[in-house]
Amino acid sequence: MQLILAPMQGLVDDVMRDLLTRIGGFDECVSEFVRITHTVHSRPTWLKYAPEIANRNLTPAGVPCTVQLLGSDAANMAANALEAVRFGAGKIDLNFGCPAPTVNKHKGGAVLLKEPELIHRIVRTLRGSLPAHIPLTAKMRLGFEDKTLALECATAIAEGGACGLTVHARTKVEGYEPPAHWEWVRKIRDAVNVSVTANGDVFTLQDYLDIKTVSGCNSVMLGRGAVMRPDLARQIKQYEQSGSVREADFAEIAGWINLFFDLCTAKEANNKYPAARLKQWLGMMKRAYPQAEDLFARIRTLKEAADVKQVLEAFEWEQKG
Ligand SMILES: Cc1cc2nc3c(=O)[nH]c(=O)nc-3n(C[C@H](O)[C@H](O)[C@H](O)COP(=O)(O)O)c2cc1C
Repeated sequence: MQLILAPMQGLVDDVMRDLLTRIGGFDECVSEFVRITHTVHSRPTWLKYAPEIANRNLTPAGVPCTVQLLGSDAANMAANALEAVRFGAGKIDLNFGCPAPTVNKHKGGAVLLKEPELIHRIVRTLRGSLPAHIPLTAKMRLGFEDKTLALECATAIAEGGACGLTVHARTKVEGYEPPAHWEWVRKIRDAVNVSVTANGDVFTLQDYLDIKTVSGCNSVMLGRGAVMRPDLARQIKQYEQSGSVREADFAEIAGWINLFFDLCTAKEANNKYPAARLKQWLGMMKRAYPQAEDLFARIRTLKEAADVKQVLEAFEWEQKG
């Protein structure tokens, strides 16, 4: 079985990928989408989105990172993909699922699910341009307004030459509203002859077991659940390997919080960045852990990195008893 960390623009950047892949359980991760419009991006841009390409496409923990592109101009996407490969990218993924109105207005992301022929042309053009050893994959939702074109879009991707397809089991209009329609992932899996990864609403080990049963997939992508419960992938891997699970206690998580903050501090000279990222993360984690809510309250009004760090260190000591 394969566990993949979802691409999440503004949430799972290189620092979060570094942290979550260190904690363990993931076989692969994917960069935030790199938007392709009229230009061909320079090396600093690729490195900004996916610094892993300067490290043989690996996170510091050694987990491979795929570079995701979003756009609709097949020729320019191919030129950009080739450039990313020239700078070191080892695998390319295409985004056919982003619901953001500004992105959709410029014909990117989920809006392309209305045009399976265009999806096919994009995938075929990229496959024809990239060296044969560079894997090309895609990620889709089930449709834009409804699911009537889901199988056609999936087939367009597979027949265009992608070797893998991740399905976020909702339409664009369904946004992030539960439930995710895992049974549709099975329909797609049965319709195409490429490997299919199931995605959507896996927040617990039980959700993982359920999505596997319903979708029939051996590959699962974790998004928000992996951010809210940073050892979710590790729990799943432990369960798959030994049938038992050791969940992290909050003392261990407090150590990861400190590490995350240090990694953010090392990344950005702007000393507001670490506190902002930490608040974003705690805001999600507090849905799974009351201690995260408590910590959030303690740092809520702080902005300076040094002030926050002081609170974090004291908090970790407290948790360790
Ligand atoms: C804040 C946020 C940013 C996202 N950014 C991307 C992205 O850059 N590329 C992409 O393919 N999907 C993106 N997604 C969708 C996720 O990869 C995933 O498909 C979705 O969250 C469902 O999985 P989950 O229920 O496990 O979170 C994003 C989702 C969220 C919540």
